[in-house]
Amino acid sequence: MEKINAVITGVGGYVPNYILDNEEMSTIVDTSDEWIMERIGVKTRHILKPEQGSGTSYMMTRAVKQLLEKTQVDPDSIEAVIVATTTPDYHFPSTASLVIGNLDLKNAFGFDMEAACAGFLYAMEVGAGMITSGRHKRIIVCGGDHMSSMTNYQDRNTCPIFGDGAACVMMEGTTEEVGLIDSYLRVDGKGYDPLHMAAGGSANMPSHETVDQRLHFVYQEGRTVFKHAVTNMSNAVETIAKRHNLTKDDIAWVVPHQANVRIESAVARRIGVEEEHVMINIDHMANTSGGTLPLCLWEYEPQLKKGDKIIFTAFGAGFTWGASYMIWGYDGAAEAAKSPAEFYKEGAISREEWYAKRNK
Ligand code: UT7
Repeated sequence: MEKINAVITGVGGYVPNYILDNEEMSTIVDTSDEWIMERIGVKTRHILKPEQGSGTSYMMTRAVKQLLEKTQVDPDSIEAVIVATTTPDYHFPSTASLVIGNLDLKNAFGFDMEAACAGFLYAMEVGAGMITSGRHKRIIVCGGDHMSSMTNYQDRNTCPIFGDGAACVMMEGTTEEVGLIDSYLRVDGKGYDPLHMAAGGSANMPSHETVDQRLHFVYQEGRTVFKHAVTNMSNAVETIAKRHNLTKDDIAWVVPHQANVRIESAVARRIGVEEEHVMINIDHMANTSGGTLPLCLWEYEPQLKKGDKIIFTAFGAGFTWGASYMIWGYDGAAEAAKSPAEFYKEGAISREEWYAKRNK
């Protein structure tokens, strides 16, 4: 039997229309555009306001709907939906089940996966395994987070970093030499102290006290996390590149988790890849946790060509991290034209108008 590879055959995305810029952020906490741009690299972030919609499933449903429209596949042919998120709508039922229900995907099963900011990397690996085993032909892998639902807007150390958004990819089987080739994934279980949400789970149940103590928000010791992120993401990329004899000239794109533009630059420098080969959208997307990698694909789709060698890398709470090597499976320009990214890229219309068009 011929070897089956798991290849991405389409990308969909969604970001909410409300844009929170650094000027407005400076009215919420004691900060400035200069500090945020210099230390993080975020100018604006998208926020899902309650009056627009609620929950990660609101964004994820729209991303998957766009993916189905772009790829024109029969929704009944979707066999599974995997959702990587740290902000599920509820403890249960899963966000995947809500998305499947909203879009009436009659033949799909689905589940959520939680690996914080590395979630999408892990979900792609799990999804690819389902395809390469031969048991499934077509699935959807999603990543996204409603970060504003657990961001403490009284903590200037964390609140400028995060934004809301979701994106997804279609994964199918192919006998061509394209698709997800290999992954190097790790968890060390040592990251609780510097990065966690202390309450709301079974270890520290919600109570008046946990709410009063503001324990239902992201807690992060930035400097510690920063150091681990740079070291582990760089090492993971180096490891996967070495395994496949990839030099920096072979790599068309590095897709890093969008945690901090200084982290992305440090990883690029460590592996010697020029910044024009590194996907960066943190300036207008911020850190959407599980959403950062697929949102990069969504925005850079017009520039992707069949055969491009891509390395993804991410790092998150746990600590969780890793890198994946993929050979891209289609020319993105025609596909992306179905949702007008070019309006935004060419600056012909404002970013707000562009998102409104893409979100349809
Ligand atoms: O996605 C999961 C993984 N997460 C990450 O990878 C995030 C990693 N960490 C980071 O991105 C950075 O550490 C932060 C952006 C969180 C912070 O940047 P930093 O350069 O590490 O700043 P710092 O925490 O060392 O703080 C430097 C100074 C402090 O003042 P003092 O003590 O030196 O007087 C902070 O109080 O900057 C101050 N500061 C701010 N000033 C203005 C912290 N936040 C702000 C702010 N505006 N928003």
